[in-house]
Amino acid sequence: MSEAVAGAVAERFTQLYGAGPEGVWAAPGRVNLIGEHTDYNDGFVMPFALPHTAVAAVSRRDDGVLRLHSADVDDGAGGVAELRVADLAPGTDRGWTAYPAGVVWALREAGHEVTGADIHLASTVPAGAGLSSSAALEIVVALALNDLYGLGLRGWQLARLCQRAENVYVGAPVGIMDQTAAACCEAGHALFLDTRDLSQRQIPFDLAAEGMRLLVVDTRVKHAHSEGEYGKRRAGCEKGAALLGVDALRDVPYAGLDEALERLGDDEEVRRLVRHVVTEDERVERVVSLLEAGDTAAIGPVLTEGHVSLRDDFRISCRELDLVVDTALAAGALGARMTGGGFGGSAIVLARTADVDTLTKAVQEAFAQAGLTAPRVFEAVPSAGARRLA
Ligand code: GLA
Repeated sequence: MSEAVAGAVAERFTQLYGAGPEGVWAAPGRVNLIGEHTDYNDGFVMPFALPHTAVAAVSRRDDGVLRLHSADVDDGAGGVAELRVADLAPGTDRGWTAYPAGVVWALREAGHEVTGADIHLASTVPAGAGLSSSAALEIVVALALNDLYGLGLRGWQLARLCQRAENVYVGAPVGIMDQTAAACCEAGHALFLDTRDLSQRQIPFDLAAEGMRLLVVDTRVKHAHSEGEYGKRRAGCEKGAALLGVDALRDVPYAGLDEALERLGDDEEVRRLVRHVVTEDERVERVVSLLEAGDTAAIGPVLTEGHVSLRDDFRISCRELDLVVDTALAAGALGARMTGGGFGGSAIVLARTADVDTLTKAVQEAFAQAGLTAPRVFEAVPSAGARRLA
């Protein structure tokens, strides 16, 4: 399968640029099993990679020119964007090219000699669905340039550079989870990641073998205020950490939560944010313990607890996400929660294999009855992280 994809992307590259690429790379989208809005609080996360990938065919250039083309963007002209690497500067680009160009900028800023490239991109990661299509784009470009220019950077180092590209060049205040997931996930595993030092453990996560499935339900909505709200939550968490005199909310121990909340006095909003982050870190640790003990079905209620916390304390769910969770649970799911940044995007549902069809139908009917656009439902199989295809 990946050979056919690599061949098709290489062929398009050849049409666009007149010669074949030096190589073809892929990087996946992700879903996050548990650990939401903990990454910019130095906490724990547990994503796994989707089979959906961003694929890049790339060749080096030595003349300072960066040419970019995407199969997924219809700019009317079907055009190739042409930039000069020396001119790349944060805030100058608000379009899709900011992601690959931002990566080149971040590599050069960090002192790596990248003298240009021809890049053609094609992605199967659903955009705007909270499945990290941007991180997949960033990481695939970073990995290709790392290989071609012999930079010798490790996956976690590429993730840091791509986060910097997104924070500074694109201007989105995201954490480190999505880029690390795209770079470091392994097939058949979820990635238990400590976002403070990026130490990680691959946790075997083979649901099918245990008679279970994880469904992704893409609600196909993305509420317009999501980016501003993300920044507000992040600022609120930082305020909480400052009030409590810690570097990050990760440093508030679960056992000391009540005392911390008391110290925050009547700042109800900060109290809610702190409570979510501290309890969410504990939920990640609980899920890891349960999976390592082979008690997979028991993670269901922990996922659902996570949703309640995101809905009531962090306040980033929405009608469509709640509808998926409530309907799935009523139809017999083991657990369900929103995943990703919130305010739309996707939810995940843990179910016994035998219940998958009934559950899927129940969710689809609930959306139809509510007059909402039909959601896209698919099974998420933990897949490979970023890699060279050809
Ligand atoms: C988005 C961000 C991540 C993370 C999640 C919430 O996906 O890109 O860094 O903060 O939201 O967990």
